[in-house]
Amino acid sequence: MAELSKNDEQVGTTPNVSGVEVVEARTEAEEVAALEVPVERGEPILQVRNLVKHFPLTQGILFKKSVGAVKAVDGISFDLYQGETLGIVGESGCGKSTVARLLMNLERATAGEIFYKGQDITRLSGKALKAVRRNIQMVFQDPYTSLNPRMTVGDIIGEPFEIHPEVAPKGDRRKKVQDLLDVVGLNPEYINRYPHQFSGGQRQRIGIARGLALNPEIIICDEPVSALDVSVQAQVINLMEGLQNEFNLSYLFIAHDLSIVRHISDRVGVMYLGKMAEIGTDAQIYDHPTHPYTQALLSAVPVPDPEARANRERIILTGDVPSPANPPSGCRFRTRCWKAQDKCAEEVPLLAVPERFKDSDTPAAHESACHFAEEKDVVHAA
Ligand SMILES: Nc1ncnc2c1ncn2[C@@H]1O[C@H](COP(=O)(O)OP(=O)(O)OP(=O)(O)O)[C@@H](O)[C@H]1O
Ligand code: SF4
Ligand SMILES: [Mg+2]
Repeated sequence: MAELSKNDEQVGTTPNVSGVEVVEARTEAEEVAALEVPVERGEPILQVRNLVKHFPLTQGILFKKSVGAVKAVDGISFDLYQGETLGIVGESGCGKSTVARLLMNLERATAGEIFYKGQDITRLSGKALKAVRRNIQMVFQDPYTSLNPRMTVGDIIGEPFEIHPEVAPKGDRRKKVQDLLDVVGLNPEYINRYPHQFSGGQRQRIGIARGLALNPEIIICDEPVSALDVSVQAQVINLMEGLQNEFNLSYLFIAHDLSIVRHISDRVGVMYLGKMAEIGTDAQIYDHPTHPYTQALLSAVPVPDPEARANRERIILTGDVPSPANPPSGCRFRTRCWKAQDKCAEEVPLLAVPERFKDSDTPAAHESACHFAEEKDVVHAA
C-alpha cells in the first residue's frame, strides 16, 4: 500500500481551556496543511471534549412539537493516541455508535468539540473537512448489509477513489484494489466477484480493505466482528492487529465482547447511558476496576477455569437501563448501583482520578466517574 503522504510543514499551536493544543490555522490552505502534519506515536491524534448528541423527540404530524430529547451522548471526553487501540464497551443503547458517527462527521454534534490534530472538525468545511474524512475511516458491524450486493468487490473497494482521485489516479485503481485485496488476505483475482460469493469473514475483509483504501490514520470500528462466527472473529482480529502495525493506524474499537476488547485494546473506556463511567489501560480496567458498573460488567464475563468460576462473585444488576430521554439525576447508574447514597442523586460524579488514589501509583489511580470509587476483587477473563 502507498505511503501515507505527509509533509513536514509545522503550524503554530496554542493550548486552549480544555488542554488541547489548538492549531492556529486561518485560511483553508493552512487548515489542510495542518491536517497533513504527522503525529508522533503516543501523542494524541483525536481529542474529544464534552461531546453531546441529543436527538429531539417530537409529537404531532403536521405541526411537530418538541417534547424532549434522547440524550444519546451527554458530555463525553477522551483522547485517542496515535498508534493505539482504544476499546469502547457498554450495554446496548449507551451511545457507542452515536460516538462513532459523530467522530465520522455523519452526525452533527449538539455541543462539544472533536479535535483532530488540534483542529475542531465539528467546525471544518470544504477541503479541510474532505481531508479529515479521508484520514478517518470506518469499518461497520454487519458485512452482509454494509456492502452493496450489485457492485463488484473491485468497485466497492475502489469507490472512495471517485471522491479522492488524488490517492489513486484512474489508470492505477485496478492495481491498487488488487494490492488491497492482497493486504487483507484475499485473492486479488476475486476483484470481479460480487459480495454474495464470499463468506462472512471474507466480506468483513472486503469492508476492511475499503476502510484502508484512502490510507487513513484512524479507523473507527463499530462492532466489526460481532456478526461473525467465533472461529472467524479471531482471524479478523489478527488481521486488524497486523494492519495496525503495518500502517501505523489508530483504532477506536467498539464491541460488546469484553474478552475481545481486552485482547485488542491498549486502553478501554466503559460507557453507561451516554456518559463515560471509567477509562484506563486494559490492565487498570480489567484487573483494577473502581466503578461499580465496570465491576458488574466484568463479573458477568465467562471464566474458563472451573475453580475461579466457583469462587467468583457474580454481581447481578437489578432494574432496567433507564431511558436516555429521562436519565436519573446525579449519577446515571444510581438506580442500579448497590452502593448508591444520597450524594449520588444530587451530584453528577466527574470522570477523574479518585481523590483517594491521586497520589499513589496503584493501578486503581485511573479515571472513574464515581463518588465512592474503590477497587473490588472481580474475577475476570484471562
Ligand atoms: N437517529 C436517532 N434518532 C433518535 N434516537 C436515536 C438515533 N440514533 C440513536 N438513537 C438513540 O440513542 C441511543 C444510543 O444509541 P446508539 O446506537 O448510539 O447505542 P449503542 O451503544 O451503539 O447500542 P448497540 O450496542 O445496540 O449498538 C439509543 O437510545 C438510541 O435509540
Ligand atoms: S456515584 Fe454512587 S451511584 Fe454512581 S456508581 Fe458511584 S456509588 Fe454508584
Ligand atoms: Mg451500536
